[in-house]
Amino acid sequence: MSERLEVLLVGEGNFSFSVAVCESGDVENITASCLQTEQQAVAQEHAAHNIQRLRDRGCTVLFEVDCTCLNEHEVIRRSVYDRIIFNFPHCGRKSGVKKNRTLLAKFFISCAEVLKAWRRSACGSMQRPRRHSM
Ligand SMILES: C[S@@+](CC[C@H](N)C(=O)[O-])C[C@H]1O[C@@H](n2cnc3c(N)ncnc32)[C@H](O)[C@@H]1O
Repeated sequence: MSERLEVLLVGEGNFSFSVAVCESGDVENITASCLQTEQQAVAQEHAAHNIQRLRDRGCTVLFEVDCTCLNEHEVIRRSVYDRIIFNFPHCGRKSGVKKNRTLLAKFFISCAEVLKAWRRSACGSMQRPRRHSM
């Protein structure tokens, strides 16, 4: 990736993927997030250690981030990102294809509101991303 990219990771589990991205050295500004509360997140194996590794490297770690409404999060809404990554997106063990498709569709729509490229074009045209029915 190019230099000084602002990258947001959503839907993390124990934050091991975020640590891998961070330690790859390709990205300098990382915000790693998960849907769960901090208490729920650190209950997962290795999570507390991974979160500490991220913080030690200057990354921001956020909890209770719903990737389908990123613009409603008080920290995320004040930021703009070059890239947003959701590794292994999934609603949960028993959710079917339809539910997972809906999650992805809502995630993509939500991304548009906090992505640098869209914000820049929106300033010029005042257009919002079109919402498609799912
Ligand atoms: C299969 S796990 C993948 C975890 C992690 N990204 C990884 O690669 O190891 C799917 C993750 O998606 C998260 N998730 C599901 N719906 C979400 C939502 N609306 N917003 C944010 N995360 C969500 C779950 O909490 C879970 O951690």
